[in-house]
Amino acid sequence: MSSFSTNLTVEQIASFERDGYLVLENFWDAHTVDSLRQRMHDLVCSADLSNVETIFSTDEGNRAHSRDSYFLESGRAIRYFWEQKAWDPVAKKLTLPATEAINKVGHGLHDLDPVFEKVSYTKQIGTICRQLGQVKPLLAQSMYIFKHARVGGEVTPHQDGTFLYTEPQSCIGFWWALDDCTKENGCLWIVPGSHKEGVPFHFKRKSPPDFGTELVATEPSLNRTHGDWNLDSAIPLFTSKGSLVVLHAAVVHFSNENNSDKSRHAYSIHVVDGKEGITYPQSNWLQRPDGFPFREIKL
Ligand code: FE2
Repeated sequence: MSSFSTNLTVEQIASFERDGYLVLENFWDAHTVDSLRQRMHDLVCSADLSNVETIFSTDEGNRAHSRDSYFLESGRAIRYFWEQKAWDPVAKKLTLPATEAINKVGHGLHDLDPVFEKVSYTKQIGTICRQLGQVKPLLAQSMYIFKHARVGGEVTPHQDGTFLYTEPQSCIGFWWALDDCTKENGCLWIVPGSHKEGVPFHFKRKSPPDFGTELVATEPSLNRTHGDWNLDSAIPLFTSKGSLVVLHAAVVHFSNENNSDKSRHAYSIHVVDGKEGITYPQSNWLQRPDGFPFREIKL
């Protein structure tokens, strides 16, 4: 399944600490990647996607509320999110077949689907987490990202620690290319070394009685706007199908629109450290109900 069978080298760990990311080529073989792509295809084809009308309700109040609920509950479910480019706001309908209009599926695949569970909870991933400093790696979320040909939208510059927020920061992101990635189909871009500036924003649930999500500055004295990153030194990662990118919680990364005629699928998980002294705030957007906690990636 995975060609990665040994520990990270001292050089690889040093590279991660210096740059905030690490590329492990050919982490998965073609058979593993193809089995994930096939599984996702089957999930999408068998899913009840009729709720698309609910998500894009014409009433702005209902629309926002139902969209937020659908998103906020997705940590305990397998949910489908649409590409903006594939929605006609005037006709109020998708402009493409649903299978070609999906932006991503999240965020509980790793606990709710046996195929994705098998590749997410592995000794190799647990080893990497511990080698990069985690003590009790807890798998918090998973995403399958389609970035379909011609309609795949951009992912604006961000740090994963904003969305998988712990105090202190502990998140590690794992991002697998399920296609060969190029500038044209929307490869991942990284700003090496940007993780050393910390995570100044927290994406969280609004406090009751308000509902929904908000981005708040955790260091207001910096007087920064989210997304106001210096991207001058950003580099594209031309990762091949099956390769893994490991991401520090604070490294700035993004991907552009896919304007090519080739898809750029990816699978991603985010792991936080559950060791004593690290807290996962109840204000985090992603929450699990009682009886369905994050699970540790064991060795
Ligand atoms: Fe990210």
